[in-house]
Amino acid sequence: MKQINTEKYNIYLGNDASAALHSFFSETAYSSLFILADEHTKKSCLPKIKRYLPALRNARVIVIKSGEKNKTIQTCIKIWDELSKQNADRRSLLINLGGGVITDMGGFAASTFKRGIDFVNFPTTLLAQVDASIGGKTGVDFNQFKNQVGLFAFPKAVFVIPAFLKTLSKRELLSGFAEVIKHGLISDLHYWKKIKSTNPLHTKNWEKVILKSIEIKNSIVSADAYEEGIRKYLNFGHTIGHAVESSSLKSKKPLLHGEAIATGMICEAYLSHKYCGLKTQELNEIIATITAAFHPKPIPYPADKLIERMYQDKKNNNSEINFSLLSAIGKAEINNFCNKSLIEESIIFFNSLYQ
Ligand SMILES: NC(=O)c1ccc[n+]([C@@H]2O[C@H](COP(=O)([O-])OP(=O)(O)OC[C@H]3O[C@@H](n4cnc5c(N)ncnc54)[C@H](O)[C@@H]3O)[C@@H](O)[C@H]2O)c1
Ligand SMILES: [Zn+2]
Repeated sequence: MKQINTEKYNIYLGNDASAALHSFFSETAYSSLFILADEHTKKSCLPKIKRYLPALRNARVIVIKSGEKNKTIQTCIKIWDELSKQNADRRSLLINLGGGVITDMGGFAASTFKRGIDFVNFPTTLLAQVDASIGGKTGVDFNQFKNQVGLFAFPKAVFVIPAFLKTLSKRELLSGFAEVIKHGLISDLHYWKKIKSTNPLHTKNWEKVILKSIEIKNSIVSADAYEEGIRKYLNFGHTIGHAVESSSLKSKKPLLHGEAIATGMICEAYLSHKYCGLKTQELNEIIATITAAFHPKPIPYPADKLIERMYQDKKNNNSEINFSLLSAIGKAEINNFCNKSLIEESIIFFNSLYQ
């Protein structure tokens, strides 16, 4: 079991989680335990954590419907309602057992209930293990915009158990791999070289990758928890990616978060080339790696509608669209304000690759 310490909480990584769990729960005295799961993690992951820590057999389980479309304030109301009905008090603990939807929304629901109760994360998707469960960003989507309502709130601990990934679908696994790619691109050329030659669908042992990604995310967040500076690196691919993701939410087959971010990273690598000096050869390397993993399709939404969405994105100041870009692989640059025509050009460029 590896332990990664942050200023506010510890992250435990490994399949041999029992000792860390026992020690955490024996050192804390909660009045009651609640587990937040969705229908998939209830089936695939809940029995496993009860085996790790038999004390969890007495926890009350709140089950919500899976999927990004349920990451809403309405679902939070259901969570708050269940907590109230089951007499949760300020010394109760919420255990988030699931992917990024559960850890984002559970963290938000816990830290607003009765002015804040403790929560811990058990991330069960690759995406949540390498990214979403760490760093303290919690929240829900609102009016079809991503993460519009939320707060920074830190878990008491994060237990990352790679064995949970065994039941995850290939599509979901790949979605998480987009954040792994992002971590290499924004901060570590050596890691990027490893990732480039990794086939996520043939990887059996994820622990090393998860550890490296956690270390990268954690060091960025530790230096800038509230996103005043370098935490913005983590937004690479997310300005255009979020616009594509939220546009797709209403469609019959919405994109997964990582799929939208893969698209966003190619568009924003193009912006990086035009605006930040990313070399042609590195742009081509990024395109080739993402294309091989994701087989992207052209973006089916008009560029002007996507740009309108980007204006609404919370990452923008004074109505300018703020991008985190790359000046080279492994080197991110924050606060790049690209104009509309360049953004449109990046979308046209993306579509031309996949006609
Ligand atoms: N807070 C942050 O810093 C941060 C960072 C990145 C992403 N996010 C957010 O994370 C969300 C995406 O997270 P996600 O990709 O984990 O999606 P998700 O939570 O919707 O999980 C994906 C699917 O996998 C299922 N699932 C989860 N674990 C499983 C398992 N072990 N076995 C079988 N099925 C399982 C879930 O039920 C769901 O259907 C987005 O809302 C995104 O905005 C947040
Ligand atoms: Zn993301």
